[in-house]
Amino acid sequence: MIDLAKHWDFVYGTKDTNKVSWYQNSPDTSRKLIEKYVMDHDAPIVDVGTGSSNLPSCLIQDGYTDISVIEISQLAVKSSMNNLGERSNKVKWHIMNILDFEAEYEYMVWHDRAVFHFLKTNEEQERYKEILYKYLKESGYAIFATFSKNDGPKKCSGLDVCQHDNQSISDLFAPEFIVVESFEEMHATPSGKNQKFYWNIIKKGKP
Ligand SMILES: C[S@@+](CC[C@H](N)C(=O)[O-])C[C@H]1O[C@@H](n2cnc3c(N)ncnc32)[C@H](O)[C@@H]1O
Repeated sequence: MIDLAKHWDFVYGTKDTNKVSWYQNSPDTSRKLIEKYVMDHDAPIVDVGTGSSNLPSCLIQDGYTDISVIEISQLAVKSSMNNLGERSNKVKWHIMNILDFEAEYEYMVWHDRAVFHFLKTNEEQERYKEILYKYLKESGYAIFATFSKNDGPKKCSGLDVCQHDNQSISDLFAPEFIVVESFEEMHATPSGKNQKFYWNIIKKGKP
């Protein structure tokens, strides 16, 4: 069994953060979706597997006041904190595996770009779903971006992934959640390759 924290520390310890394939200078789709689904800028938001993403910085810039992140790699968090400088005290940091996550309160927005797709077994996916159900507010939204089942990459950072689409996310998260929006999007990596992502936004409720 792979030691995930070691794997990801190795990645962040050996690659420039703006050269990793998932890098985005400005995470525009995430920002637009968060803005679309949550009007209240004081609403609690959590970014799962934030890595060294610019999302926390952009959210602070966009005026959000209650931002948490969960990340398994200490090195990614260190780099993200360095980038934020003094603003890093505006973020609540949780260095841990999402599957062990426990929170003090519920979130209005749950954001996960390119993390859920690493969970391949039914047991891991069910555990994630339980955690999401526990910590997402009744009126909250969970935003997922995974590699697409329709011709997306099969590996990310050397690890196999489970690709998804609207149907697989609907099936996995039913009946507790429903999908409210889905679309595909191409991501251009820093080395110029294209990666097809599938975005799914889900909320609690029955169809
Ligand atoms: C492909 S990167 C995506 C980073 C970021 N979400 C983005 O879009 O730029 C996946 C991130 O998830 C983290 N990660 C992977 N598995 C995790 C887990 N089980 N719990 C918490 N973080 C995890 C990795 O350390 C890495 O930073």
